[in-house]
Amino acid sequence: MTLRTKIFLALIVITTLHAQAQKPTINILDSGRKTSLRGLNILDDNIVWASGSNGTVARSTDGGKIFEWLLVQGYEQRDFRDVEAFDANTALIMAVAEPAIILKTKDSGKTLKKVFEDTAKGMFLDAMDFITDGAIGQVIGDPIGNTPFRAITFDQGEVWRKIYPSGSWFFDDTLAKGEAFFAASGTNIKLINTRHVHEPLPAFVSGGTESNIFYISKVGLPLIQGKESTGANSLDSRSDGDLIVVGGDFTNDKNTAGNCALSNDFGKTWIKPKTSPHGYRSCVEYITKDKLITCGTSGVDISNDGGMNWELISTQSFHVCQKAKKGSKVFLAGANGKIATLMLK
Ligand SMILES: *[C@@H]1O[C@H](CO)[C@@H](O)[C@H](O)[C@H]1NC(C)=O
Repeated sequence: MTLRTKIFLALIVITTLHAQAQKPTINILDSGRKTSLRGLNILDDNIVWASGSNGTVARSTDGGKIFEWLLVQGYEQRDFRDVEAFDANTALIMAVAEPAIILKTKDSGKTLKKVFEDTAKGMFLDAMDFITDGAIGQVIGDPIGNTPFRAITFDQGEVWRKIYPSGSWFFDDTLAKGEAFFAASGTNIKLINTRHVHEPLPAFVSGGTESNIFYISKVGLPLIQGKESTGANSLDSRSDGDLIVVGGDFTNDKNTAGNCALSNDFGKTWIKPKTSPHGYRSCVEYITKDKLITCGTSGVDISNDGGMNWELISTQSFHVCQKAKKGSKVFLAGANGKIATLMLK
């Protein structure tokens, strides 16, 4: 071997080690429970709330070192697909259907009050979102007729007002036959504060026969669509007009076709990434403007360039990933009560 070859090989080794050192890893904090977690809300680097099937809610106040697990009495058979926390003790918990119910606790789950109930046949709640530091929130549910079910609250979920049938006054929000919403991770609706409008505007994404985003107008997404299992599952946004959507086909979870789309102009135009996430993804989240995480049953990807290129960092299954609203930590949750944290190097 010439000296030049040796130096060259040494450089390769160093760069490879460097790349490995840079790759984020996933650290499991808890698992082995009889629940599939799809709701996750991280207030700061200490306060973590998660919710799932079998009437289960998990809560940590020390950054996930210890989780308290709660089986909500009378709700043992219910599927809590979303949770929205306001402080260490106060949260809303959403039970999807038959009947659709939202519960509120102010004492970390010791007592729960029913703040919303709809017994209508076909009612199916998908997700809630609240503006950060605010009392304004919305819940979205599957369409009844051809418009989305939505309800709004101005007081952290004490009182909900239905805005269904919406007949939106500023854009077409009708859905195609067989177009609906996924309740995969509690993140397919997002309230977005913009500089242009006084109140936060909701953005939400659909799937099924068609996959659209409903924001300032209704825009078709370049995602796989046409089947019950296809389309958009989750979106995230930044106030500068960047938006990201993920989804795919949950019955073919390694397929990378049409599983992600991004916009830099408040959702008017959409492009596909250069390197897609490595399979169906049920949740996406901005960590910073450039760094993003997305997860699904076939693994977890990270992007370092605003969602243009995605790197698979784990093949472990997760349904939901969220960043602390007022902090830097990122948590993930999924089947069998699995909760993890992302270790960014
Ligand atoms: C819910 O609980 C039942 C009974 O313990 C169990 O058989 C089932 O697997 C649980 N569901 C999940 C998603 O873990």
